[in-house]
Parts: sequence; C-alpha cells; structure tokens
Amino acid sequence: MRISVIGCGYLGAVHAACMAKLGHDVVGIDVDENKIADLAAGHAPFFEPGLENLLLEVQETGRLTFTSDMSRAHGSDVHFICVGTPQKKGENAADMTYVDAATQALLPYLHSGDLVVGKSTVPVGTAARLAEMVQAHEPGAHLAWNPEFLREGHAVKDTLTPDRFVYGVPGGSEDHAAVAVLDEVYATPLGMGTQRLVADYATAELVKAAANSFLATKISFINAMAEVCEATGADVTVLADAIGLDDRIGRKFLNAGIGFGGGCLPKDIRAFMARAGELGADQALTFLREVDAINMRRRSRTVELARDLCGGTLMGQRITVLGAAFKPDSDDVRDSPALSIAAQLQLQGAVVTVSDPQSLGNAARRFPELNYVANTAEALNNADAVLLLTEWKEYRDLDPFETGTLVKQMRILDGRNVLDLQKWRAAGWSIRGIGRP
Ligand code: UGA
Repeated sequence: MRISVIGCGYLGAVHAACMAKLGHDVVGIDVDENKIADLAAGHAPFFEPGLENLLLEVQETGRLTFTSDMSRAHGSDVHFICVGTPQKKGENAADMTYVDAATQALLPYLHSGDLVVGKSTVPVGTAARLAEMVQAHEPGAHLAWNPEFLREGHAVKDTLTPDRFVYGVPGGSEDHAAVAVLDEVYATPLGMGTQRLVADYATAELVKAAANSFLATKISFINAMAEVCEATGADVTVLADAIGLDDRIGRKFLNAGIGFGGGCLPKDIRAFMARAGELGADQALTFLREVDAINMRRRSRTVELARDLCGGTLMGQRITVLGAAFKPDSDDVRDSPALSIAAQLQLQGAVVTVSDPQSLGNAARRFPELNYVANTAEALNNADAVLLLTEWKEYRDLDPFETGTLVKQMRILDGRNVLDLQKWRAAGWSIRGIGRP
C-alpha cells in the first residue's frame, strides 16, 4: 500500500520504517528539516536499538523516503498522524497544536477513499473532532483511531509484532471500510496471530489512556509499598516477587525505585485527569493524582537517602550519578527521574557528575549546570557516593571490587534495586536500595 506518515519523532520514524519493512511504499513527512535530513541519510535522530539498521535496510529497497514537503502525501492511500501531544505549559492538559496543524496541513492532499489514521496519544473526543474536519474537506475520506503501545527501547519489535491492534472507527463497526484497509496495512502481524479489536472512537482513545494509567498505577503501587517497607524494615523486591507470582497480579511493572518518567506516562496521566475534569468525570480519576504524587515523592526520597548515605549533609560531597535517561536503552531525558534527582542534589550543595551511555548530549541541553562524563570509570573517580539511577546493563554488571578501587568512599545507592546487596556489602560497600533493609 502507499502510506504517508506525518510526524517523524519516536513514534513516526519507527512507524514509517516498520511499515516499509512490512512491504508498503512509505513517505515520512516532518516539518523539522534537520530530522528529515538525518532520516534520509539513514541516521535515527534518537537512540533506539535496531532502528538505524532497519532504516538502512528499507531505504535500500526504495520503499521509504523522507521529506518536509506535505504535498508528497498526495497519492497515499493511508495517512498516519504520528505527531507529539506534549503537556501544555503550566497546565495538565495535552497540547493539541501539532495534531491539529498536521491534520489541517494534510487536508488539501486528501482524495476520496483515503484513510487518515490517528496514532498520537490524544484526549478522548479528538478523533470525532478530526473526522469532522476531514469529512468537511473530503466527504469520501475516512478517519480511524489506532493508538500506539510501543515502548522506547523496544520500539521496532513493538511495532512489527505488537500485543494487539485497536482500531477506532465510527460506531465501532467491523464492517466499516477502514477496518479492511487497516487489516491490509497490518496483514503480516495479523497473519502471525496478533489480536485486533474494533471499537468506537472514544473507546479506542480511552484504551491508550487507560493502559498508560494502569502501568503508572502499578509502578506507584509498588513504590507506595516500598515506602511502607522502608518504615518496617521489610524488602519490597521480595514482596514484589511474591505477589507477582499470583498471575492475576503479575510481576511485570512492579519494580520499585526512583519512579516513572519519560515523554508518556507522566504527561498522559495528567492529560487524562484534565480531560476527565472537562467531561465532569474528574472524581473517577482522582486516584491518578495520588499515583502522580507517590511518583514525584520518590525523587525527593532518593535525595534524602543520598543525604543519609553521605553522613547527613550533601554540601561539598562529590556524587556520581549513573544514568540520565528515563530508562535504559533510550537517550530520552524527558521528565527523567534520574536527571531531576541529579539536579536536586547539585542544588543542595553536592558536586554532581552524571554519566550515561547514550543521553549525555540531551541531558546537557536540559541541565547545562551539571558535570557530564561519558566514561564510567572516569565518572566514578574519587566519588564520595555513587547513585545508580538508570539501570543500563553496564551499571547492573558493575563489579563491586573493581568499582571500589575507583571511588574515594565506598557508598552506593541503588535507585533501581538491580544490584546484589550482599555481594556489594561483602566487598566492603555501604549500600542502600529502595524499600529494602
Ligand atoms: C510507555 C508504555 O509502556 C508504552 O506501552 C506506551 O506506548 C508508551 O509509554 C507511550 O505512551 O508512547 P515508555 O514511556 O517507553 O512506554 O516507557 P516504560 O517502559 O513504560 O517505562 C516508563 C517509566 O517507568 C520508566 O521511567 C521506567 O524506568 C519506569 N518503570 C517501569 C519503573 O519505575 N518500574 C517498573 O517496574 C517499570
């Protein structure tokens, strides 16, 4: 099929490359010329394992091109809207500027029979509104809502073989023309057994908001348990293993630590609360305020633990923070708990050095006042305390004996509960986890 993908950020760049991999003819369109130049040269403008190889592979076939010229959408059968919906400045709601602008810019190039497919994460009600815009311009065109569930760091796999597809179409009818079109787009993964659900617009939009809210709630639940564990001397990692064995609960997303960050969960739960408020259903989601509060409290708690580890004061302490990205295998520092803790420590008088395998450029743009060192051994040199805040494999695999020879004082805080406390203690370290004795 001929496909246009509008917006080539995390979602769009990966989606465009994966659609070409599935055999479609794809044009990726973005207003950012630098991003387009990078992608056209086969470079991913962000770190995502496997994406660069995929870009090179599909570009060689001639099935994938990138442009900043929206008129190239002309002639595509399916147009995916993949632009961002960041949090509005000073408000909880989502900023719809990019979604609206992208749809508006696409209208002149739509033909009868075309399908516009929204993938961006949007407040419920957006699809119905955009469908009106599309049909007012081209009555023969349709709009479907097809939320995306990919995780950064696993984006290629999650796009090519997702857990499920959700198609939002008017009335939620299986017979709607858009269903057959999307089935053709996703014929390969559907053929491999991926489940597909057809829903009305509002349900499809809510599936995404509900999924991210559930994940955020799961993380905050275990972090709340970590607080109770800290108050009682219990171990939250054992508790998570034990409750996780109940398959109604499950062990995934029950890792206590410094909390969730990134460009999705924090802003999505806030936008969901804001939208529920507009709809008069705010009471239903007040618990998400608590989910958010538990999450933010993890950051201040980690600063307190670091202060304890340093003997009661942060002033003048040389602290090495391992990890700046919001999670491993990503260079994304949007709302990164690691980076926000590093900045807090610095504000409170510590001398902070941050290291990360991929995200130092992005981190330095966000917090230029911090000291950044790429090489781990160099970053650890002479440290009074070490904080492991993003669980990159390289940090999980650190050897306590070797690491001990680099630092000034053998003190470490494991903000992700990934180190073997006994092993580190046996090597002479003073070590703290989160919610662990
Ligand atoms: C999240 C969802 O997992 C995706 O399904 C969704 O498509 C995406 O948002 C989106 O809306 O686009 P992502 O932001 O890539 O994906 O990151 P996650 O893997 O969900 O992790 C989010 C944060 O939670 C990270 O900071 C991670 O360190 C933290 N986390 C995760 C925990 O603190 N504990 C856990 O047990 C799991």
